Amino acid sequence: KERFKSSIVEVGPRDGLQNEKKMVPTHVKVELIQRLAAAGLPVVEATSFVSPKWVPQLADAKAVMATVSSFGKGRFPVLVPNLKGFEAAISSGAKEVAIFAAASESFSQANINCSIDQSLERYREVCEAALQQDVPVRGYISCVVGCPIEGPVSPQQVAYVAKELLKLGCYEISLGDTIGVGTPGTIVPMLEAVMEVVPTEKLAVHFHDTYGQALSNITVALQMGVAAVDSSVAGLGGCPYAKGASGNVATEDVVYLLNGLGVQSNVDFGKILSAGEFISQQLGRQSGSKTAVALSRS
Ligand code: HMG
Ligand code: MG
Repeated sequence: KERFKSSIVEVGPRDGLQNEKKMVPTHVKVELIQRLAAAGLPVVEATSFVSPKWVPQLADAKAVMATVSSFGKGRFPVLVPNLKGFEAAISSGAKEVAIFAAASESFSQANINCSIDQSLERYREVCEAALQQDVPVRGYISCVVGCPIEGPVSPQQVAYVAKELLKLGCYEISLGDTIGVGTPGTIVPMLEAVMEVVPTEKLAVHFHDTYGQALSNITVALQMGVAAVDSSVAGLGGCPYAKGASGNVATEDVVYLLNGLGVQSNVDFGKILSAGEFISQQLGRQSGSKTAVALSRS
C-alpha cells in the first residue's frame, strides 16, 4: 500500500485564540505555540498583525512574535491584512506571512472592510514587498462554499479569487469553509473548479466543524490529492466576523484520521494531546476534540 504524506498547518494559536472571549495571557500563547512545534507540527500559525480594534484578542502580536521568532525549529507564519501589518510583522521577527481574501463580497466587507478587488489590490502591495524580501506568502480564501450573509457561494467565484492569489505569488492557497456549512456535496465541485486554475499541490483545506462535516470534507479532499490540511488543537477557533462559526477541525482528530489511513504526518500524537489538554485547562473548558475526550475517559 502506497504511503501518502500530508502536512498539517496548525492554526489554533491564531484562528483559535482570535475568537476567545477571555484574553489569553501572552505567556500562555507562547507556551502553546512552543508545545505545538515540539509535537512535530511543521507549521504553527502564531498570531495576526491586524487592527487591535477589530481583533483585540491578538493585540499582543508583537510580544508573541518577539519570543516565538527566536525558537530554533519550526515555521511560524502570521496573518497580515495590509502593508502596515506586513511591516509590523517583519519588524517583529516574522519570516512568513498569510494574506486573507474572501469569495463573498459581503464577508470581505464584514471582515476586512473592503471589496474583494480592493483587498486584492492591498495584497498586491503586500506580496510585492514580501517577494522582494524573500518572505513566503500563503493565501486564504474564506467562505468557499457558504457565506454567513449571502448564503451559497459559487465554485467559479472561489476559482476567480484563487487564480488571483496565485498570480500574486502565493505559494499555497488555503480554502476556508469559514462557517463549516460544506459537505462533500459542495466541497467536491468547489475543489474541482479551483483545481482547473491552481495546481493541486498548491492547495490546502481549512474546515470549521460547525455542522460536524470537517473530517468527511478532509477525507474527500485527500482523495482528490490535496495534501495540506489546516486544523486547530482542541478544536479551538472561529472567526469573530462570522457569527455562529465554531472551531476549526481539531488537530487531534485529524492526526487520528491520518494515522488510521496510514498517511504520514510525523506528528507526535501524545504531545499533541497534551498541548490540547494544556490550552483547554487554561481556558477552563473541555477540549473540542472528540479524540481527546475519548482518550481522556479511558
Ligand atoms: P479599517 O478600519 O478599514 O482600516 O480596517 P483603516 O486603514 O481605516 O485603519 C483603521 C485603524 O486601524 C487605524 O488606526 C489604523 O492605523 C489601524 P487609528 O488611526 O484609528 O488608531 N490599522 C492597523 N493596526 C494594526 N495593524 C494593522 C492595521 N491596519 C490598520 N495591520 C483592517 C481594515 C483590515 C485593518 C481591519 O478590518 C482588520 O484588521 N481586519 C482583520 C479581521 C480579522 O483578523 N479577521 C479574522 C481573520 S480571517 C479568518 O479568520 C478566516 C480564516 O481563518 C479562513 C477561514 O476560516 O475562512 C483565515
Ligand atoms: Mg478559519
